[in-house]
Amino acid sequence: MAEIYSSSAAGLYVRLARLLCETDCLTEALLGQLADLPTGATIIEIGSGSGDLAREVLGRFSFNYVAIEPSPEMVQHMPAQLVSDTRFTLIQEPFEKYLGEAGSAHAVISRYVIHDYPDDAAAWYGKIRDLLVPGGIFFNLDLALADNPQDTAENMDRIVQIATNLEVNSADEERAKDDLVEHLKHEIKQYMQVSRHLNQLRQVGLEPMLIGREENNYLIKAGKPVSPEVR
Ligand SMILES: C[S@@+](CC[C@H](N)C(=O)[O-])C[C@H]1O[C@@H](n2cnc3c(N)ncnc32)[C@H](O)[C@@H]1O
Repeated sequence: MAEIYSSSAAGLYVRLARLLCETDCLTEALLGQLADLPTGATIIEIGSGSGDLAREVLGRFSFNYVAIEPSPEMVQHMPAQLVSDTRFTLIQEPFEKYLGEAGSAHAVISRYVIHDYPDDAAAWYGKIRDLLVPGGIFFNLDLALADNPQDTAENMDRIVQIATNLEVNSADEERAKDDLVEHLKHEIKQYMQVSRHLNQLRQVGLEPMLIGREENNYLIKAGKPVSPEVR
């Protein structure tokens, strides 16, 4: 887990993420896709952060929602109303350690997490496949390598600029702001290559499609076949 999510920078990060997600059409597209799931469906979110996506999902749908989030600092920023929602279960451990029941999730979702695991993503995908029910779907909204490197650089500059201008509420946060900006610069190097991830998903037997792209972000939908392929 990156330092930023376990330090006093976590609070700043949460505010920055909210600012950026306000204009994020891909999140809206992801929420639209969930509308096809049945009432009472089980959703697992990997790296739920402060629970912003969970709040949106449970505000619109009646699902059982399992949020996996290892950082105590991020968890502290979850709204009390979400944590006390009987449909919501919080698992405070890294996804690598999560022992969920195989075939229990109608959907697994993840937003802006997997780019931090370039080498482990294939192992994560295998585990996600096992957690899904037959016909279940994995959605990954994440950073992508832009076609034009100049666009990538400009977009990241914009994000770093927004982070630099965030108002701070304490001397701790003032120091944490430098960590946050350094972390964002590091993230520039962590872009996922979409085609590599589509291939890794195919290799574990999921059927991926790129269903949305916006600036440097993309949304992949990957379905688990209803029955194993007969050869
Ligand atoms: C960039 S933030 C995204 C938060 C949230 N998904 C959102 O869209 O606002 C990445 C999140 O992944 C969490 N994370 C880091 N390592 C993880 C791991 N091994 N398993 C699950 N979550 C992890 C971090 O603590 C952090 O909350």
